[in-house]
Amino acid sequence: MFFERFPGSGYVCAHRGARSIAPENTMSALQAAVDAKADFWELDVQKTADGALVVFHDDFLNRTTDIHTHTQFLDRQPWPVSHFTIEELRQLNAGSWFLAGDPHGTITRGEIAPEILPQMGEEGIPTLDAVLECSRKNAFPINIEIKDQIASPGDVSIVRDVYDAMQRTKTRDMVLISSFNHEYLRIMHRIDPDVPLAALVEEKHPDDLLSYLQSLGACGYHPDQAIIDTEFVQTLAGQGIKVSPYTVNDMDWACALLEAGCFSVITDFPQTLRRRLTAHSM
Ligand code: G3P
Ligand code: CA
Repeated sequence: MFFERFPGSGYVCAHRGARSIAPENTMSALQAAVDAKADFWELDVQKTADGALVVFHDDFLNRTTDIHTHTQFLDRQPWPVSHFTIEELRQLNAGSWFLAGDPHGTITRGEIAPEILPQMGEEGIPTLDAVLECSRKNAFPINIEIKDQIASPGDVSIVRDVYDAMQRTKTRDMVLISSFNHEYLRIMHRIDPDVPLAALVEEKHPDDLLSYLQSLGACGYHPDQAIIDTEFVQTLAGQGIKVSPYTVNDMDWACALLEAGCFSVITDFPQTLRRRLTAHSM
């Protein structure tokens, strides 16, 4: 299973793929994470109107697709992902925004090979199955974050659907499941208690954290990096919890957290962190 592939600590997780050097949550981001020598990658999964699983972060389509250019969808603003079918989403471009906006300045700084930019500009929204297949072919483990389905709060069917995708693509032993919706984690634990789980937390640690994680069946804890310090990490890691804070883009802070015992840090800059760690080990 996932953690058996990682016997120690100090690993690099590429957030939404290597999203500083490729359009997030696309095949290019997966490839960039592999090329950056990240240890594994994180992606976000959501359900379409017709029940397909797509890899996409935001609740709405406007930031990272060209939906505003599709006149047939103009009357469906603000374009929630969950209101579109998979066939409709296939019509969208999910890469051109990255080339046009250069959100991390990496294109301007020449940090992306010019010959791969055209391919990035053509990216679409991938299905979960497609990225899992590609990850398996690259032997590249995956942290699947199951996004809270805010449009259908009582519907927890996404959990079974994600599990079925893992089985279909033969990636069950490569996947770590995380979610801010801890009910999803409880359900996954009931479906298959061997699937490793991590609780995502944003603002405040749950009371009696260790017991809480045990009650979820979670051995991983993914807090916002803003609510932790190295002492917290040392304590929790000493209790056997795999701590992976997000999103750590300050490389000094990333190294300090890894030194303190984090299982991994989730970063937009896996290429930079990998270079830092490699330089330190020489
Ligand atoms: O899984 C860690 C991190 O991705 C959670 O926050 O908003 O980037 O999905 P977000
Ligand atoms: Ca995420």
